[in-house]
Amino acid sequence: MAYGHGKVILFGEHSVVHGRPALALAVERGSEVHAQKTSGPTVLSIAPWGVDVDTGDAVNEGREPLQRALKVARAFYQDQVELALSATMNLPSGAGMGSSAALGVAVLRAMDDARGLTRSDDEIYERSLAWERVFHGNPSGVDNAMATHGGMAVFKKGEPLARIVPRHRVRLIAAYSGSSSSTKTMVESVARQFQKEPERVGKLFDSIAAIVSNGKLALEQGDMKSLGQLMTLNQKLLASLLLSTAEIEEMIAVAVEAGALGAKVTGAGGGGCIIALVESDEQYASVKRALTGLGKTVYDVEAGANAGAANQESGAT
Ligand code: PMV
Repeated sequence: MAYGHGKVILFGEHSVVHGRPALALAVERGSEVHAQKTSGPTVLSIAPWGVDVDTGDAVNEGREPLQRALKVARAFYQDQVELALSATMNLPSGAGMGSSAALGVAVLRAMDDARGLTRSDDEIYERSLAWERVFHGNPSGVDNAMATHGGMAVFKKGEPLARIVPRHRVRLIAAYSGSSSSTKTMVESVARQFQKEPERVGKLFDSIAAIVSNGKLALEQGDMKSLGQLMTLNQKLLASLLLSTAEIEEMIAVAVEAGALGAKVTGAGGGGCIIALVESDEQYASVKRALTGLGKTVYDVEAGANAGAANQESGAT
């Protein structure tokens, strides 16, 4: 099976692009790709989105970035093998859950499988970065690392992934605001702010890096209360980088009011998803009810004490 995981970022989105660490958690929900040999060109069909792109010369109108990414993936092979790739995708797109990296990793693994090739996860990760650059310009690689390796980890550019083994099960509710944003646009906006005010924004990135270290400790010690407070603190710093919206702030307030230990946007911001931390079954039921009451689609995100990630959709409305 050729698979790529989605992810949520607990701490450190955006500052990770500028060399600071991020703490992320893969979700089981992701993309699965099946490949069949064909006479060509190579075609990628994403059934749930009604999308077809191919590596032929004609431009796939309205789908140029995905077509370019498929050509980048195909160009890794100098052979004559052409494939019909069909993808299932069970992540919202443009919502901070790493859908493009999940798809890229699954496509690259399917291309290898169909050729009878085996490649290390590290090589898949490197190749998937080329795919991701088509969509995001300057990706840190955190989405690709989680899509490839799964689990829970601290990611920092140019360093090996540092696995985290949480003391207790980590239970989050992700909720989609209903509006997507462009990661590329949001990343460029933060880069502009950094260029304009290097000292202020640099200090902000350093504060987020400290949150990542403390978050790792809180996970290892099973201190869920501190973990929640750190999420809320990270959210304040993201909001000061203009990455929040009125809708996101409302969702966060509603989740916290309903008993979440902390909540924040996850991923690029400017829309997309929030994640809210819960501990007890009562908190879980109450936060889920409050967010579905706002008309939001919610996803369960869990990591067990073995740092494996399990995930299912729930009560989506
Ligand atoms: O919104 P997503 O799932 O594309 O997450 C992007 C995470 C950023 O830190 C904003 C960008 C990056 O490349 O790390």
